[in-house]
Amino acid sequence: MPNIEGQVLVRPATLEDVPAIVAIWETVVAERKYTAVDTPFTWEEERAYISSLSAREIIYVAEVAGQVVGFQSLDGWVKYTHSMDHVGQMGTFLLPAFRGRGIGHRLTQATLDFARRHGYEKILIYVRQGNTEAQAFYASLGFVPCGKLSRQVKIDGQYDDEIFMELFL
Ligand SMILES: CC(C)(COP(=O)(O)OP(=O)(O)OC[C@H]1O[C@@H](n2cnc3c(N)ncnc32)[C@H](O)[C@@H]1OP(=O)(O)O)[C@@H](O)C(=O)NCCC(=O)NCCS
Repeated sequence: MPNIEGQVLVRPATLEDVPAIVAIWETVVAERKYTAVDTPFTWEEERAYISSLSAREIIYVAEVAGQVVGFQSLDGWVKYTHSMDHVGQMGTFLLPAFRGRGIGHRLTQATLDFARRHGYEKILIYVRQGNTEAQAFYASLGFVPCGKLSRQVKIDGQYDDEIFMELFL
Protein backbone atom coordinates (compact mmCIF):
# COMPACT_ATOMS: atom_id res chain seq x y z
CA MET A 1 0.00 0.00 0.00
CA PRO A 2 1.55 3.37 -0.96
CA ASN A 3 2.55 5.69 1.85
CA ILE A 4 0.31 8.77 1.68
CA GLU A 5 1.75 10.70 4.63
CA GLY A 6 2.29 13.71 2.34
CA GLN A 7 -1.41 13.95 1.46
CA VAL A 8 -2.61 13.90 5.06
CA LEU A 9 -3.81 16.91 7.00
CA VAL A 10 -3.55 16.45 10.77
CA ARG A 11 -5.48 18.92 12.94
CA PRO A 12 -7.24 19.06 16.31
CA ALA A 13 -10.77 17.66 16.29
CA THR A 14 -13.77 19.94 16.71
CA LEU A 15 -17.37 19.11 17.56
CA GLU A 16 -18.06 19.12 13.80
CA ASP A 17 -15.95 15.95 13.56
CA VAL A 18 -18.28 13.99 15.86
CA PRO A 19 -20.16 12.16 13.04
CA ALA A 20 -16.89 11.12 11.35
CA ILE A 21 -15.30 9.98 14.61
CA VAL A 22 -18.40 7.98 15.57
CA ALA A 23 -18.41 6.37 12.10
CA ILE A 24 -14.80 5.27 12.64
CA TRP A 25 -15.71 3.84 16.06
CA GLU A 26 -18.64 1.96 14.49
CA THR A 27 -16.31 0.41 11.91
CA VAL A 28 -13.57 -0.58 14.35
CA VAL A 29 -15.99 -1.91 16.97
CA ALA A 30 -17.72 -4.03 14.29
CA GLU A 31 -14.37 -5.61 13.41
CA ARG A 32 -14.33 -7.08 16.99
CA LYS A 33 -10.55 -7.45 17.01
CA TYR A 34 -8.86 -4.12 17.52
CA THR A 35 -10.38 -2.56 20.61
CA ALA A 36 -11.76 -3.44 24.02
CA VAL A 37 -14.71 -1.18 23.21
CA ASP A 38 -17.63 -3.46 22.31
CA THR A 39 -20.33 -0.83 21.70
CA PRO A 40 -19.77 2.26 19.55
CA PHE A 41 -20.19 5.64 21.19
CA THR A 42 -23.23 7.68 20.23
CA TRP A 43 -22.96 11.18 18.79
CA GLU A 44 -24.07 12.54 22.18
CA GLU A 45 -21.43 10.53 24.07
CA GLU A 46 -18.67 11.57 21.67
CA ARG A 47 -19.76 15.20 21.83
CA ALA A 48 -19.71 15.07 25.64
CA TYR A 49 -16.27 13.44 25.60
CA ILE A 50 -14.76 16.08 23.29
CA SER A 51 -16.36 18.85 25.34
CA SER A 52 -14.89 17.37 28.53
CA LEU A 53 -11.27 17.40 27.35
CA SER A 54 -8.98 19.50 29.51
CA ALA A 55 -6.40 21.93 28.11
CA ARG A 56 -3.86 19.07 28.40
CA GLU A 57 -5.98 16.61 26.41
CA ILE A 58 -6.69 16.48 22.70
CA ILE A 59 -7.95 14.49 19.77
CA TYR A 60 -6.15 14.89 16.47
CA VAL A 61 -7.94 13.87 13.29
CA ALA A 62 -6.33 12.87 9.99
CA GLU A 63 -7.99 14.16 6.83
CA VAL A 64 -7.36 12.86 3.32
CA ALA A 65 -8.98 14.83 0.49
CA GLY A 66 -11.36 16.44 2.98
CA GLN A 67 -12.45 13.15 4.60
CA VAL A 68 -11.67 12.36 8.24
CA VAL A 69 -10.15 8.89 7.99
CA GLY A 70 -8.72 8.45 11.47
CA PHE A 71 -8.09 9.98 14.86
CA GLN A 72 -5.80 9.76 17.85
CA SER A 73 -6.72 10.79 21.38
CA LEU A 74 -4.47 11.84 24.26
CA ASP A 75 -5.90 11.79 27.79
CA GLY A 76 -4.41 12.02 31.24
CA TRP A 77 -3.99 8.62 32.86
CA VAL A 78 -6.26 9.33 35.84
CA LYS A 79 -8.19 12.28 37.19
CA TYR A 80 -8.34 11.47 40.93
CA THR A 81 -4.73 12.43 41.78
CA HIS A 82 -2.01 14.74 40.45
CA SER A 83 0.70 12.14 41.08
CA MET A 84 0.19 10.73 37.57
CA ASP A 85 -0.21 14.03 35.72
CA HIS A 86 3.03 13.23 33.88
CA VAL A 87 1.45 10.09 32.37
CA GLY A 88 -0.79 10.19 29.33
CA GLN A 89 -2.70 7.53 27.43
CA MET A 90 -3.31 7.35 23.71
CA GLY A 91 -5.72 5.62 21.36
CA THR A 92 -5.44 5.49 17.56
CA PHE A 93 -8.12 4.39 15.11
CA LEU A 94 -8.19 4.53 11.31
CA LEU A 95 -10.66 3.37 8.69
CA PRO A 96 -9.45 0.06 7.16
CA ALA A 97 -8.61 1.47 3.72
CA PHE A 98 -6.23 4.00 5.26
CA ARG A 99 -4.19 1.68 7.48
CA GLY A 100 -0.55 0.86 6.84
CA ARG A 101 0.05 4.06 4.89
CA GLY A 102 1.89 6.20 7.41
CA ILE A 103 -1.13 8.06 8.80
CA GLY A 104 -0.76 6.61 12.30
CA HIS A 105 2.79 7.91 12.37
CA ARG A 106 1.68 11.38 11.27
CA LEU A 107 -0.97 11.50 14.00
CA THR A 108 1.56 10.36 16.58
CA GLN A 109 4.04 13.08 15.65
CA ALA A 110 1.36 15.68 16.40
CA THR A 111 0.20 13.99 19.61
CA LEU A 112 3.67 13.47 21.07
CA ASP A 113 4.62 17.05 20.22
CA PHE A 114 1.48 18.23 22.06
CA ALA A 115 2.25 15.86 24.96
CA ARG A 116 5.78 17.21 25.40
CA ARG A 117 4.52 20.78 25.32
CA HIS A 118 1.95 19.96 28.01
CA GLY A 119 4.25 18.38 30.56
CA TYR A 120 3.77 14.67 29.92
CA GLU A 121 6.83 12.52 30.55
CA LYS A 122 5.51 9.16 29.47
CA ILE A 123 2.67 7.68 27.48
CA LEU A 124 1.09 4.40 28.51
CA ILE A 125 -1.24 2.47 26.27
CA TYR A 126 -3.00 -0.84 26.45
CA VAL A 127 -3.58 -3.02 23.42
CA ARG A 128 -5.39 -6.31 23.06
CA GLN A 129 -3.01 -9.27 22.88
CA GLY A 130 -4.68 -10.38 19.65
CA ASN A 131 -4.04 -7.01 18.04
CA THR A 132 -0.52 -7.77 16.90
CA GLU A 133 -0.71 -5.10 14.17
CA ALA A 134 -1.22 -2.33 16.73
CA GLN A 135 1.56 -3.76 18.93
CA ALA A 136 3.88 -3.60 15.90
CA PHE A 137 2.73 -0.05 15.23
CA TYR A 138 3.42 1.11 18.78
CA ALA A 139 6.73 -0.77 18.89
CA SER A 140 7.76 1.05 15.69
CA LEU A 141 7.22 4.29 17.62
CA GLY A 142 9.46 3.14 20.48
CA PHE A 143 6.81 1.83 22.88
CA VAL A 144 8.01 -1.10 24.99
CA PRO A 145 5.77 -3.84 26.43
CA CYS A 146 5.62 -3.52 30.23
CA GLY A 147 2.92 -5.81 31.50
CA LYS A 148 -0.15 -7.86 30.81
CA LEU A 149 -3.63 -8.13 32.26
CA SER A 150 -4.89 -11.68 31.72
CA ARG A 151 -8.41 -12.29 30.38
CA GLN A 152 -9.10 -8.58 30.85
CA VAL A 153 -11.42 -8.34 27.83
CA LYS A 154 -14.42 -10.55 27.10
CA ILE A 155 -16.13 -9.83 23.80
CA ASP A 156 -18.74 -12.15 22.29
CA GLY A 157 -17.79 -14.68 24.99
CA GLN A 158 -14.11 -14.70 23.94
CA TYR A 159 -11.40 -13.59 26.36
CA ASP A 160 -8.38 -11.54 25.36
CA ASP A 161 -5.46 -10.21 27.41
CA GLU A 162 -4.48 -6.56 27.49
CA ILE A 163 -0.82 -5.68 26.91
CA PHE A 164 0.56 -2.48 28.46
CA MET A 165 3.17 -0.58 26.44
CA GLU A 166 5.00 2.55 27.61
CA LEU A 167 7.07 5.26 25.97
CA PHE A 168 9.20 7.76 27.88
CA LEU A 169 9.23 11.11 26.11
C1 LIG B 1 -2.85 0.44 14.48
C2 LIG B 1 -3.04 1.65 13.58
C3 LIG B 1 -3.51 2.84 14.40
C4 LIG B 1 -1.65 1.99 12.97
O1 LIG B 1 -1.76 3.11 12.12
P1 LIG B 1 -1.22 2.98 10.62
O2 LIG B 1 -1.42 4.27 9.93
O3 LIG B 1 -1.87 1.78 10.01
O4 LIG B 1 0.32 2.72 10.86
P2 LIG B 1 1.53 3.27 9.96
O5 LIG B 1 1.22 3.11 8.52
O6 LIG B 1 1.88 4.65 10.42
O7 LIG B 1 2.63 2.20 10.34
C5 LIG B 1 3.76 2.45 11.02
C6 LIG B 1 4.40 1.14 11.46
O8 LIG B 1 3.50 0.37 12.25
C7 LIG B 1 3.69 -1.02 11.99
N1 LIG B 1 2.45 -1.56 11.43
C8 LIG B 1 1.35 -0.85 11.06
N2 LIG B 1 0.38 -1.69 10.62
C9 LIG B 1 0.89 -2.92 10.71
C10 LIG B 1 0.38 -4.22 10.39
N3 LIG B 1 -0.84 -4.39 9.89
N4 LIG B 1 1.17 -5.28 10.61
C11 LIG B 1 2.41 -5.13 11.12
N5 LIG B 1 2.95 -3.91 11.41
C12 LIG B 1 2.20 -2.85 11.22
C13 LIG B 1 4.85 -1.13 11.02
O9 LIG B 1 6.05 -1.23 11.79
C14 LIG B 1 4.80 0.22 10.33
O10 LIG B 1 6.04 0.62 9.85
P3 LIG B 1 6.44 0.22 8.33
O11 LIG B 1 5.35 0.77 7.46
O12 LIG B 1 7.74 0.92 8.16
O13 LIG B 1 6.50 -1.25 8.29
C15 LIG B 1 -4.06 1.39 12.43
O14 LIG B 1 -3.60 0.32 11.63
C16 LIG B 1 -5.46 1.07 12.93
O15 LIG B 1 -6.30 1.97 13.03
N6 LIG B 1 -5.75 -0.22 13.23
C17 LIG B 1 -7.07 -0.64 13.70
C18 LIG B 1 -7.42 -0.02 15.05
C19 LIG B 1 -6.39 -0.34 16.10
O16 LIG B 1 -5.89 -1.44 16.22
N7 LIG B 1 -6.07 0.68 16.93
C20 LIG B 1 -5.16 0.54 18.04
C21 LIG B 1 -5.92 0.17 19.26
S1 LIG B 1 -4.87 0.10 20.69
